[in-house]
Amino acid sequence: MPVHDQKLVYAFAVALLATGVTMSAAQADDDDYGFESFLSEKRSHKYGGENRGKPLMPAQANAKFQKECSDCHIAYPPGLMPAESWRKVMAGLDKHFGTDASLYAQDNKEITDFLVNNASNRWSAPTAPLRISEAAWFKRKHDGHEINPEVWKNPKVNSPANCAACHPDAERGDFNEHRVKIPK
Ligand code: HEC
Ligand code: HEC
Repeated sequence: MPVHDQKLVYAFAVALLATGVTMSAAQADDDDYGFESFLSEKRSHKYGGENRGKPLMPAQANAKFQKECSDCHIAYPPGLMPAESWRKVMAGLDKHFGTDASLYAQDNKEITDFLVNNASNRWSAPTAPLRISEAAWFKRKHDGHEINPEVWKNPKVNSPANCAACHPDAERGDFNEHRVKIPK
């Protein structure tokens, strides 16, 4: 083959490779809304449809929610669970994971509305876990490949529900993996 043609073939191969690399990077980063619609089709089936939403926390959070839901843990961003999960959590506050977190009916309604209106918009599965930490996306992001199992025994971590132990800006809905800090 003439030198000229060989160069062309080589350039084509490099271009193909580059495209492949960009595509897999785009697929790996499921925190971005994609640019190609065929990829978003794929994304909706990610984690069996148990996917967190976007944005996780609306620009304007509800003041009652901030106040009433941050006494014992961070005020979990609503986009982390589907609407039905939040309805269940809010309907069972009197028996809330071993504590009584019940509210006046009016406050309960205001907070429920806020959570439901800002729930995950990417959750296509018919499931509605009571815990964020029970979702398929959560388990995948926090499995033994990502986090040494010993880490969960550290009293500074204590529970998967303790998001802020490793995500300093969890309350703002920032879970960027580049800002994760595992306590020592
Ligand atoms: C009186 C304390 C208290 C208050 C107030 C409270 N919670 Fe909780 N909540 C808990 C405890 C305890 C857990 C279990 C934590 C653990 O497993 O480490 C929990 C867990 C949760 C979880 C599951 C976390 C996970 O993924 O494992 C959600 C969701 C939740 N709370 C939502 C709320 C909401 C919404 C409010 C406000 C209406 C609220 N909580 C107010 C004590 C409280
Ligand atoms: C023991 C530390 C730890 C705790 C506790 C923890 N996480 Fe994480 N989380 C991580 C690490 C490490 C990663 C990065 C995994 C990876 O590289 O894919 C991560 C990734 C994530 C991601 C994906 C971020 C991205 O850029 O793709 C989200 C969302 C997330 N965590 C949410 C939560 C929530 C919500 C909680 C609490 C209910 C929580 N995490 C508790 C350590 C933790």
